[in-house]
Amino acid sequence: MTRTAIVTGAARGIGAATAIRLAADGCAVAVLDLDEAACADTVQAITDAGGQALAVGADVSDAAAVAAAVDRIAAELGAPTILVNNAGIIRDNLLFKMTEDDWDLVLSVHLRGAFLMSRAVQKHQVDASWGRIVNLSSTSALGNRGQANYSAAKAGMQGLTKTLAIELGRYGVTANAIAPGFIVTDMTRATAERMGVGFDEFVEHMAKEVPVGRAGAPDDIAAAAAFFCSEEASFVSGQVLYVAGGPTA
Ligand code: NAI
Repeated sequence: MTRTAIVTGAARGIGAATAIRLAADGCAVAVLDLDEAACADTVQAITDAGGQALAVGADVSDAAAVAAAVDRIAAELGAPTILVNNAGIIRDNLLFKMTEDDWDLVLSVHLRGAFLMSRAVQKHQVDASWGRIVNLSSTSALGNRGQANYSAAKAGMQGLTKTLAIELGRYGVTANAIAPGFIVTDMTRATAERMGVGFDEFVEHMAKEVPVGRAGAPDDIAAAAAFFCSEEASFVSGQVLYVAGGPTA
């Protein structure tokens, strides 16, 4: 049977790779991002490969927009039973320079976004007695200089994941988190810019710290997401999988 999946923040980066991978695995995929037009490339990549995709514009931190988006996806693509909460932003600064807006915005996109999306999708999962939720955490959940807001949000994603697993397990729904290490995307490109270093140099520097000797790619995360979303992962729930090319502290 064709499952309908929603991947948030899927216009680019890890979300795009995950959307493309889930489509290759047979899902109809809602490619959701802030701006519907920005989803065109991901949708094109899926349809060019023979898959089914729908571009959806919505801000995941906006409750009304989330409810409308999930209703539209259910009507146009089928009831969504797979959800990947991937949308994210960074607003890095040392604590003494961090503004309240930067704190609120980061918590809002990651945590409130994952809450709103999960709440909207769970009714379709419960109706189907089957579902998969995958939340994007980060190695920053363990603490990272300059990321008080982001690390709090990413640690929060782990608590949310475990509670969703407990509450929704009886309905055949699993919830798991992926905590990536350093992945080459626009997000890490922005980090390099903020630090005033060239991206290639930054990637090379970061890769030296990784036991497998390379930076991560969006497909590395997509592969982990594909496992959690698979039929055969039905007994794996409430877990946090660090995908970082080595162990984490
Ligand atoms: P990215 O910045 O390349 O892509 C994020 C996407 O989310 C963008 O397309 C953006 O428009 C979208 N987005 C932002 N706010 C949104 C909102 N309110 N509603 C809907 N969409 C929104 O980021 P990347 O690197 O692909 O990261 C994806 C996820 O993985 C994020 O949650 C990030 O925190 C996490 N992550 C990334 C790591 C990395 O090294 N790149 C490491 C650990 C975690």
